[in-house]
Amino acid sequence: MLPPPAHFFPDFPDEDQRHHHDAILLALRRTLESGNFVLGEEVVAFERELARFLDIPHVIGVGSGTDAIELLLRALDLPGESTVALPTLAPSAVAAAVRRAGLQSALVDVEDETLTLCPHALEALLDGPAGKRVKVVLAVHLYGHLVAWEPVRRICEDRGIILLEDAAQAHGATHAGTAAGALGRAAAMSFYPTKNLGAAGDAGAVSTRDDALAEKLRRLRQYGWRTRHISETDGINSRLDEVQAAILRVKLPFLARHNARRGEIAARYTKHLHGVRLPVQRPGCTHAWHQFVIRTGRRDELRRHLELAGIPSAVHYPAALHQQPAFAHAGTFPYAERAVAEVLSLPMHPYLSDAAVDAVCAAVNEFTRP
Ligand SMILES: Cc1ncc(COP(=O)(O)O)c(C=O)c1O
Repeated sequence: MLPPPAHFFPDFPDEDQRHHHDAILLALRRTLESGNFVLGEEVVAFERELARFLDIPHVIGVGSGTDAIELLLRALDLPGESTVALPTLAPSAVAAAVRRAGLQSALVDVEDETLTLCPHALEALLDGPAGKRVKVVLAVHLYGHLVAWEPVRRICEDRGIILLEDAAQAHGATHAGTAAGALGRAAAMSFYPTKNLGAAGDAGAVSTRDDALAEKLRRLRQYGWRTRHISETDGINSRLDEVQAAILRVKLPFLARHNARRGEIAARYTKHLHGVRLPVQRPGCTHAWHQFVIRTGRRDELRRHLELAGIPSAVHYPAALHQQPAFAHAGTFPYAERAVAEVLSLPMHPYLSDAAVDAVCAAVNEFTRP
């Protein structure tokens, strides 16, 4: 098979900037000429526009997704020794943020089908000896697929545990018509350039319906200030940048349309790929298709085969959190351990052509053909 031309597989952040080039330049000019560089009109407008998109009262822009998790956990004012339960198949940023908030992590295995937090494993943790210290569950909507929301919500509600979302990979995903980011007590989001809604650098936000929590977060992101130069609580400097907010405002109106194109690409892959395990979509949910992750026991060989065919791929993630030196953790996590040996993310973003998707399918099928 001839390798596909290089432009078949543009890099998503590059292509996204190119697509919005003129509008972004206008937005940058407006921002620079305003002379208002920190927590100005662009941040306020982006927070309002994202809140409208999510149908939620409050969005608080912060410096990154990691900061969003840390600040959200700090804003809850949990007792010392509190533990946060989170899936072991997640980016290391999540566990790092929990630690920075001064809390412990309790890792939980994932569902075999969706690779999101497993409700049964969560229940076993909460009803076991370490369960009493768990005050928060952080539901990570991995790859753009929502966590099994109803079972996880019920488990938390029955035990008085706070349920938070990590919606960094799930911009625009929904559960029963409600947006990821508007389901739990509050949600953290990242706008890292590769995300479905991506800035041109680091950026993040917290969304919540809770007025008091929102107020606390606005203080925490800026030195704990109640008013200028008067700190009421501890706080850090983690403000969403005006420039990033202006760029995000350009891109937000395209998110739904781009996610719809991601859905078409996922359907095309699902129809044409053979011989690998395909991702599923839970009934009642819309998937944001941040990643299209297939599984095979011959993952590394397939990856090499694709590379030789000129097709990019990635592994999300090469190790579960409990397997990483910084977060080593006792417990059994069979599904996450199998997943990290098998997962392969195929090209997925709204600028991919059908011909590019077909070239990926042909290369995968050539490899798996008996
Ligand atoms: C699920 C998830 N949570 C948190 C983060 C951290 O976000 P950031 O890189 O903006 O700090 C990321 C992104 O890397 C992520 O994918």
